[in-house]
Amino acid sequence: MKVALVTGGSRGIGRAVCVKFAAEGYHVLVNYVSNDAAAQETLAQMQQAADARDLSGGSPAGELLKFDVADYEATANAIGDWQNANPGEYISVLVNNAGIRKDNLLLWMEPDEWYKVLRTNLDSFYNVSKQLIQPMVVHRGGRIINVASLSGLKGLPGQTNYSAAKGGLIAATKALAQEVAARKVTVNAVAPGFIATDMVDGLDTEELAKTIPARRFGKPEEVAELVAFLASDKASYINGEVISINGAIY
Ligand SMILES: NC(=O)c1ccc[n+]([C@@H]2O[C@H](COP(=O)([O-])OP(=O)(O)OC[C@H]3O[C@@H](n4cnc5c(N)ncnc54)[C@H](OP(=O)(O)O)[C@@H]3O)[C@@H](O)[C@H]2O)c1
Repeated sequence: MKVALVTGGSRGIGRAVCVKFAAEGYHVLVNYVSNDAAAQETLAQMQQAADARDLSGGSPAGELLKFDVADYEATANAIGDWQNANPGEYISVLVNNAGIRKDNLLLWMEPDEWYKVLRTNLDSFYNVSKQLIQPMVVHRGGRIINVASLSGLKGLPGQTNYSAAKGGLIAATKALAQEVAARKVTVNAVAPGFIATDMVDGLDTEELAKTIPARRFGKPEEVAELVAFLASDKASYINGEVISINGAIY
């Protein structure tokens, strides 16, 4: 059984990645923090995708793994419990996708807006990857794909917190890749521009789309294709890289 863990898999980009992985025959662990109904919907779509390709053989395409990626203890416990219940299996693909934004000018930014964004988008990389890196190294094979952002590459006003978190995630991607490359583990990041998900609710999408050379927002499924490629054997020599997916807005 090839097992993938997708954090923030209940909605948006994470859901699209879960469904894509299920269609490719992975057993997918769908992490989320609060939205039970959305997570169940992801599970249903995954099952449909696996059944349509006759890949599940009647077994579940995946399971829900609810925990807060910003909480080290909760993360270690949830993943530890899964590993104990599934001896002989290991999670060979990790997509660090869970994220939030709390935009504000630094001038007005409250401590909670800074720390919560850093904890959820950056500390989560440590909290989750720390549990999985040793099994990957021992098995001499693994893929970690971090969902960063255009904000982490160029910095965006109103997002000093989010830009710092995503920039840190990109640097951590490059550092960890060099630590584990000899053990056939790859660590890469994707940097989406504007993608049509709940996260961009409230933005003036029509006006923003005019600023994107492709003249539209990206779809979660388009990001999922890139993530699935990086997770595949075909991407075995791509390591420590950041790949933008943004309709040419830089
Ligand atoms: N959309 C964009 O334009 C865009 C652009 C660049 C980068 N990104 C990045 O892409 C990733 C996914 O974004 P999205 O647009 O798909 O967001 P979204 O639709 O808002 O979904 C966020 C997901 O993250 C989960 N989540 C949030 N906090 C969590 C926590 N503490 N622990 C576990 N799960 C948590 C949510 O779970 P619940 O359903 O339980 O709340 C949900 O599944 C994020 O890292 C985001 O920064 C997005």
